[in-house]
Amino acid sequence: MKRVAILISGGGSNMLALVRDMDENHPARPVLVASNDPSAGGLAKAAALNIPTAALDHRTYPTREAFEADLAQHIDAASPDIICLAGFMRILTPGFIRRYEGRMLNIHPSLLPKYPGLHTHARALAAGDREAGCTVHEVTADLDAGPILGQARVPVLPGDSEETLAARVLTMEHRLYPAVLRRFAAGDRTPVLLP
Ligand code: GRF
Repeated sequence: MKRVAILISGGGSNMLALVRDMDENHPARPVLVASNDPSAGGLAKAAALNIPTAALDHRTYPTREAFEADLAQHIDAASPDIICLAGFMRILTPGFIRRYEGRMLNIHPSLLPKYPGLHTHARALAAGDREAGCTVHEVTADLDAGPILGQARVPVLPGDSEETLAARVLTMEHRLYPAVLRRFAAGDRTPVLLP
């Protein structure tokens, strides 16, 4: 049984989708939900599902490294085989990433390699793209650039705003990430492509 730690910063809708998919015939189980923001709504959702949580406040640490050292301590105490970044909004240092490289995944709301970084939907709309989507990739020291483990495409529709496009992509994130984790936890790195 693979043990999965999930890192969040906000509402945790991706975390919930992952947790809900880890049922009795899934090769993995959630063992920790940790956040860099104690007010993250996802923490209460995880606690309600009896998943151990860790609420850190990155603003209370003197350096990025000090925060990551504490975060790593909480992660390692849960002995995870896999770490899933799910709406986690902190840039991680290469030192932290090296610690978990090869078993840390992230979901990014664009069709990488297009639009690494922030404001992905606004950039897709500004470029006049006809389609958008999301990507699950292995986390490496290069931001949003690790090996791709899955992608899901959605149409950009006439009249789309950043909000309507974000909502359409988020729905696909909730399908893609669980499908990728199920495959990754079974030792299969064949990319999941949706639809
Ligand atoms: C969303 O913008 C999603 O596209 C990205 O993280 C943000 C929050 O996700 N992956 P969540 O609801 O906290 O999972």
